[in-house]
Amino acid sequence: EKGGYEHFMLKEIFEQPRSIADCMRGRLDAKNGRLVLGGLRDYMNKFQNADRIIITACGTSWHAGLVAEYLFEEFARIPVEVEYASEFRYRNPVISEKDFVIAISQSGETADTLAAIELAKSKGATIFGVCNVVGSSIARATHAGSYTHAGPEIGVASTKAFTAQISVLTMMALMLGYQRGTLTESKYVQLLNELETIPGKVERTLKMNPNIEAISAEYKNARNFLYLGRGYNFPVALEGALKLKEISYIHAEGYPAAEMKHGPIALIDEEMPVVFIATKDNSYEKVVSNIQEVKARKGKIIAVVTEGDTVVRGMADHVLEVPDTAEAFVPLLSVIPLQILSYHIAVMRGCNVDQPRNLAKSVTVE
Ligand code: F6R
Repeated sequence: EKGGYEHFMLKEIFEQPRSIADCMRGRLDAKNGRLVLGGLRDYMNKFQNADRIIITACGTSWHAGLVAEYLFEEFARIPVEVEYASEFRYRNPVISEKDFVIAISQSGETADTLAAIELAKSKGATIFGVCNVVGSSIARATHAGSYTHAGPEIGVASTKAFTAQISVLTMMALMLGYQRGTLTESKYVQLLNELETIPGKVERTLKMNPNIEAISAEYKNARNFLYLGRGYNFPVALEGALKLKEISYIHAEGYPAAEMKHGPIALIDEEMPVVFIATKDNSYEKVVSNIQEVKARKGKIIAVVTEGDTVVRGMADHVLEVPDTAEAFVPLLSVIPLQILSYHIAVMRGCNVDQPRNLAKSVTVE
């Protein structure tokens, strides 16, 4: 059942080339410049004309929502708010019929997310679900939705569901941008073609597994970790930190790299490993200066970089390479080494990676 892998989590990490391809199958046809999400068809008008997109979710699914905020605003120019379902449901939020609400949930059973949906529905908003479990409560409570088709996720720590959620949200953002005319036809087709290469690039990223295992051995006894990224990689930093803390029980914080100097920089000394996501994108130069700041304080640097990077390689203690892609698609690649890093560290610490203490796969109580 674990397909030869020692744990479900590792199996699910390695399934990602296939699960992302499954998620795009029948939807993305780059050759013919076509992208169709069946669930969106009847609601495209509402979506296109929405005043605002509100995304609600918990945990890792909330991180996928943060990536979507960057995607929707970049491609479709509609303002986005990303809300923890638990906060949203209790604060009497301003919601109207012109809002398009997207609820993201792997299990489709998360109590807070379900309650947030009911609230938004009662105010007349359109609710769209991005769920993995077919026929789940959230899938049934929404007006429409698109399944992530990642297949059953058994490991409590979400991995392949996260990349499938981002894949669906990416397709939604591209469709929306194209329909609204905020994304030109040529750019659209170019992005569709690039999106199609992602499963293969995930496959290539997975080849780093042995390197990451070696690095993990060096850091398995760390007491704390900091994860830093900017732009599309800011949510990835949050997700990397969550993966590490939930399965290895090492305290980890994710931050937007620029926020470091507003507090967390005080934590940095030779005992503090800092994971930078420093791929070649619009914020690359800025991240490089943040790396210098950490280096000057003797922090240990593990950096996720774009293949062929030499600048960060010269500064970091360790680099993990991901293939080059469109900036908006980087999270689908940059999160992979972070999943693998947390996995190996947890295994080396003797933790039960598939069933971490105190956690459940679906959180059906608030
Ligand atoms: C983290 C994790 C949790 C879930 C959260 C939401 O690895 O698994 O943070 O992401 O409980 O669950 P779903 O997506 O089922 O609503």
